[in-house]
Amino acid sequence: MDDPQELLSLCKRRGFLWPAYDIYGGAAGFFDYGPLGAAMKVNIESHWRRLHVLEEGLQELVCPMIAPEPVFEASGHLDTFADMYVECTGCGETYRADHLAEGLHDNPAALKDKELGDLLRKNDVSCPACKGELTAPKRFNLMFRTSVGAGSAKVGYLRPETAQGMFVNFSQIYRFGRERLPVGAVQIGRSFRNEISPRQGLLRLREFNQMEAEVFFHPERKTWPRYGNVKAEMLSLMPNNGPPTSMSLADAVSSGTIANEALAYFMWLTQRFAVDVGVDPARMRFRQHEKDEMAHYATDCWDLEAETGYGWVELVGVADRGCYDLEAHLTHSGADLTAFERFDEPKEITKEVVRPKYDVMGKLFRGDTKALAGIVAQLPPDAVRDRDSVQVDMDGRKVEVPSTCYELAVTTEKISGDKFVPHVIEPAYGVDRILYTLLEHAYRVRDDYVTLSLKGLVAPVKVGVFPLMARDGLDDIARRLYDSLVGEGLAAYYDDSGSIGRRYARMDEVGTPCCVTVDYETKEDGQVTIRDRDSADQVRVKLDDVICAVRNMIEGRSPQSPANM
Ligand code: GLY
Repeated sequence: MDDPQELLSLCKRRGFLWPAYDIYGGAAGFFDYGPLGAAMKVNIESHWRRLHVLEEGLQELVCPMIAPEPVFEASGHLDTFADMYVECTGCGETYRADHLAEGLHDNPAALKDKELGDLLRKNDVSCPACKGELTAPKRFNLMFRTSVGAGSAKVGYLRPETAQGMFVNFSQIYRFGRERLPVGAVQIGRSFRNEISPRQGLLRLREFNQMEAEVFFHPERKTWPRYGNVKAEMLSLMPNNGPPTSMSLADAVSSGTIANEALAYFMWLTQRFAVDVGVDPARMRFRQHEKDEMAHYATDCWDLEAETGYGWVELVGVADRGCYDLEAHLTHSGADLTAFERFDEPKEITKEVVRPKYDVMGKLFRGDTKALAGIVAQLPPDAVRDRDSVQVDMDGRKVEVPSTCYELAVTTEKISGDKFVPHVIEPAYGVDRILYTLLEHAYRVRDDYVTLSLKGLVAPVKVGVFPLMARDGLDDIARRLYDSLVGEGLAAYYDDSGSIGRRYARMDEVGTPCCVTVDYETKEDGQVTIRDRDSADQVRVKLDDVICAVRNMIEGRSPQSPANM
């Protein structure tokens, strides 16, 4: 699409998307969903929920959108979730520094503060608005900070991703899943990022909608029960170390292009979802992140990208987050966020330990010996190896313990299982971007006639219902038909104003897959005309068969297909 503005103006006019707080001059980075947009968003989310919760058995959670500061200290967002900005010393406008460096470097977002500043200075980049001089780049944390409670309130943040709610609940998820791996959770909800300069409509919002899954695995068994069913399916891949290619999941995993079967499976599920809801397969690909592009928590990441009027846009990131998050929360909170896997038979293992020598210790440390020996026995062997002494912390005191007080020894013990910190595969979907892309990929204009060829699954209105004339009993029949359609849960739109052509056009423009017209013959033969949006083909069906015919058309079949009749 050359100019997304055409589509955006249709979205505004027909009630998909409205700029938020318009009567106060608007607020950049915020959008309202109008009635059709809200319905379409729900349809997208419902299909995602169906695939992930119903079919894959992941557990849906609803966690708070505000979290206390320690959560984001642990997750790393407080330290690292920042972009760099520059400010115009003339007009005061702020810009994302890497955006101003586009075209000057392959990947300006990966540059360090100073490198980016040097690049802008060397290229004499000035304020795009007033040509004023720009400051050096400064870091800006993208989380919205707030305070929780009155008085000496605690610091909190609006979540920048739904993911953390699932990590901090790992123990509950694991227990609910009857302590077996893999196990996973999902969350659909709002997240917040205080973007420096939001642009490109729905693509970069300050308040946005995510659908995320966190799936936990044994680190050495990253696979998924249904992987075998889909391993021959093809994915379109752009690896970070080679040319674009199309490969089966099995080949991608065996060649090391995709790191493991679990990551490959959730990439395939992402592709399935995208195709189901109507992303054009010919304008879609998986691009692997460059090493210097990856988020602070990721060990590997593939973005499902779609081509739009704004260029290639990330719709979904499928990341292997390793054990980064659980380990971070375990360390910061002290909670046990490990999993345990029982062996079929107990195993005997030998291991090296630090063994206190009580007699020597007793002479040196007297009454402290027992406590000190307990601390020393917990030390990892490498902390004492080849050293004359080791310093330990005892009740806030630093105590130097000489090497004569302990020895390295090898012990044998029987263990019944393996305790470990699980790894995580995370598909993270941006709902707003997906919705925008579906609108763009469905947008057709021929001789000024606009049709949104949305998939029936996501179309906000499934069927238009028209009496040819709003009189002579045609309107009564059409009303009854409308009532029976909505009674079946099908979003219908009743319209009796203007010519039939005009009514079809109104429905085509908002992506309604089919329309039913009640005419004078209906009174004679009990049949109505049903029209397909994309082909404009019309067939007659009995009133009693309309619900089946509409369901067929929503699912892309012919109205008289026997499948549902
Ligand atoms: N949780 C990953 C993301 O928000 O992009």
